[in-house]
Amino acid sequence: MKVLVTGGLGYIGSHTCIALHNAGITPVILDNLSNSSIHVLQQLHKICGQTFSFIEGDIRDQHQLEQIFKQQSFDAVFHFAALKAVGESCQQPRRYYENNVCGTVTLLDAMYNNDVTRIIFSSSATVYGEPQYLPIDEQHPISATNPYGWSKVMVEQILADNCQSDSQQLAISLRYFNPVGAHSSGLLGESPNGIPNNLMPYIAQTAVGKRAKVSVFGDDYDTNDGTGVRDYIHVMDLAEGHVAAFTNHQQDSGFLAYNLGTGQGYSVLEIIAAFSKASRQQIPFQMAPRRQGDIACNYADANLAKAKLGWQTKLTINDMTRDTWRWQQNYPQGL
Ligand code: NAD
Ligand code: UFG
Repeated sequence: MKVLVTGGLGYIGSHTCIALHNAGITPVILDNLSNSSIHVLQQLHKICGQTFSFIEGDIRDQHQLEQIFKQQSFDAVFHFAALKAVGESCQQPRRYYENNVCGTVTLLDAMYNNDVTRIIFSSSATVYGEPQYLPIDEQHPISATNPYGWSKVMVEQILADNCQSDSQQLAISLRYFNPVGAHSSGLLGESPNGIPNNLMPYIAQTAVGKRAKVSVFGDDYDTNDGTGVRDYIHVMDLAEGHVAAFTNHQQDSGFLAYNLGTGQGYSVLEIIAAFSKASRQQIPFQMAPRRQGDIACNYADANLAKAKLGWQTKLTINDMTRDTWRWQQNYPQGL
C-alpha cells in the first residue's frame, strides 16, 4: 500500500512515516518546507534504511496535486500539512485559514477528481475549546478559542460534510492531545523555529543551555500543585495511532473522530521534574503569570481508540523526556 503524507517532513508527519514504513506501508511525502528541513529525509533514511519519495510542493497548488494523483495511485492521504502556532494565528488569521482550510479544500478536490477516497486528518484537542468536563471524550461539545483552533473545527466540518455528500468517502479525524518526545534513535525530533511556545521543547532547550530558565505560566490553577495539567503523548505512540486508524478502517466510510492521548495528565512542575531526572541536571525555573488563553487542565478519554482501533499508548513520561533529551543533545540547533 502507498499513501501520500502531506506535511511529512514536519514533526509528527516524519515520525508517522517511520510507523508507516514499519507497518509495510509506503509513504510519499509532500511538503512545502515552510516549517521543516530537507535534512529530515536523510534522517528517515538512517532510521528506516530506505529513501522515501519526496515531492516539494504545496497543498494549495491544485495543478500540482492533480499531476501527483494522476502519476501515482494512493490508498489514502495522511494530511499533516498546516500552520500550527496559536499566537501567530491570532495575528495572521487569514493566512491560517488560507493555508489550513483553503489548502484542505484544494486537497479534497484533487483527491475527489482522482478517486482517492480516504483521508486521515491531524486534528487537535483544541477543537474541544474550554473543557466542560474531564476526561474529554469525543462527544464533548466542539468549539475553539483562536483562529488556529477554528481552522481545525472548520476542516472537521468540511470533512464530515464531504463524507455526507458521498458514501464512498472516509475521513478519520485524529484529535491529538499534547505530542512530545522524539524517535528513540535520537536522530529525529521536534525543532521549533525561534523561541519555543510549547513546554517540552522549552525545557529541553533550557537543559541544553540555550535558554536561561523555564517560566512556569501560572501557579494558582485549581490543580494538585497549582500549575497547568496536560495529557502528553509520545510522538511514536501518536504515529502508531495513525497506522491503527488507517488499517482498522480499510473497508469503512463516513466521518470518524478519535482522541489520541494517554488519559493521564501531568502538571508543568511534574514535567520539569521528569526532565531533570532524564537529563540528570537541575532545570532552572521561575513562576510567571498565567499565559492568556490557557486552561487549567486537559486530558483525554482515549477509550474509543482502544476499543475500535486496538490502540493505546505504550510509552511513559520517562520515555518522552529521555527521548527528547537524547534528540536535544544530539541536535541542539535542530536539523
Ligand atoms: P510541523 O509544522 O512540524 O509540520 C507541518 C508540516 O507541514 C511542515 O513540514 C510544513 O512545512 C508543512 N506545511 C505547512 N503548510 C503546508 C502547505 N500549504 N503545503 C505543504 N506543506 C505544508 O507541525 P506538526 O507538529 O508536525 O503538526 C502536524 C499536524 O498536527 C498539523 O496539522 C498540526 O496542526 C497538528 N497538531 C499538532 C500538534 C502539536 O502540538 N504539534 C497538536 C495538535 C495537532
Ligand atoms: N507552559 C509553561 N511554560 C512554557 C510553556 C508552557 O508553563 O514556557 C505551560 C502552559 O501554561 C500549559 C502547559 O505548559 O499549562 C503546556 O503548554 P504547551 O504550550 O506545551 O501546550 P498547550 O496545551 O498550551 O497547547 C497544545 C498545542 C496547541 C493546541 C493545544 C490544545 O501546542 O497547538 O495543545 O490541543 F492547540
